[in-house]
Amino acid sequence: MASGILLRRGDPPWTLDYDGRSIPCAPGENVAEALLAAGELGTTRSLKFRRHRGPYCLSGDCGTCLARVDGEPNVRACLTPVHDGQKVVSQNRLVGRGPDPSALADKFFAKGMDHHHLMVRPRALNEIMKEVARNLAGLGTLPDRVDGRGATFRHEAPDVVVIGRGQAGRAASQEIRRRGLRCIALERMPGGAKHDDDFDAGVFGIYPDEGLICAAAVEPRATDRIFTLRPRHLVVATGARDPMILIDGNDTPGVVSARGLVAAMSRQHFRLPDDVVVIGPDDPGARIARGLNARHLRPQDVERIEGSDAVDHVRLTDGTRIDASLVVLAPRPGPASELARQAGAPVRWNGAGFEVQREHPGGRVPSPGPWTLWAAGEVAGVPTGRSAHDGQVVAQALCHREGAES
Ligand code: FES
Repeated sequence: MASGILLRRGDPPWTLDYDGRSIPCAPGENVAEALLAAGELGTTRSLKFRRHRGPYCLSGDCGTCLARVDGEPNVRACLTPVHDGQKVVSQNRLVGRGPDPSALADKFFAKGMDHHHLMVRPRALNEIMKEVARNLAGLGTLPDRVDGRGATFRHEAPDVVVIGRGQAGRAASQEIRRRGLRCIALERMPGGAKHDDDFDAGVFGIYPDEGLICAAAVEPRATDRIFTLRPRHLVVATGARDPMILIDGNDTPGVVSARGLVAAMSRQHFRLPDDVVVIGPDDPGARIARGLNARHLRPQDVERIEGSDAVDHVRLTDGTRIDASLVVLAPRPGPASELARQAGAPVRWNGAGFEVQREHPGGRVPSPGPWTLWAAGEVAGVPTGRSAHDGQVVAQALCHREGAES
């Protein structure tokens, strides 16, 4: 097992069970953070090539941290709060280290296995094949039990819903409440301060024709599990994410996204090891490396990242070897605009992703829905450092339109 890439400042009070091993954890952490702090970096295998994979984005976007948690399969470890005595089981791997015997399946298919067209006829054989494929992929084992409570719904019709409690979302919701409007802010990443009206919930559907937002509670044991919201105003403040940098070995366990790591550090006050390397263009790579007290490398100078079940070193194009136990990828961020697009917002390509096009300096966005749609912060292409100010400007424009007190 590799050493931890998140270093603790004290002794955590709880433990969770990970594949029979006792892992320390503390209130407010998520499962991925606890595993990375304990040196459990490779938590799964890539479905196709059986390479080791571990948590990368640390923010619910990449799916490389899937695990079985308390009997529930395919849970994102980076979005799941820890609790004392939690049972976490790795999935989609036969063996923890070295080559995976299930990769032998590819040896039987000279041109690679085409699982889309394999044994589609006769139908009976196809049913068997689908079952085999699901289990080979590691995703087919059903939950230990079915929760008899069913879904418990909570219906709300506030003045404003803000999606995202990052810098822009927090600034917007604070300003909106200060001016007397009822605002519900949703956030899928657990942890962080929140108002009584805020929910830790991930949005899974926006239906602009009906003015409806549907979200599911992050915490599986939450009393209210499904939220249906019909606001007069919708503010999308979903921020941005780090796209992958195309370097050989970028999926090695111990390679993480800068954005997810910085957020984890700010929530939990972890420390980092001494041999951290940040790979990214000068902006934002050099700035992030300075903040993490790490070495900065430009992508064009890197040949590959090396290591099997954990990062070992970075090889430069001139042959130099740089030892590293943690490699941080810091690309130019791409706006996380999928939910805004679901709400009907127009977007444009900005070179790193699709940003929301606003029609108004106050942040209003053309929308087909019965609500007024707004976008705040990085999702609209605003730089990170100006996101909080932008959230406030959007809130002021919204309240002005609503005629709320200043
Ligand atoms: S989804 Fe959890 S690390 Fe990416």
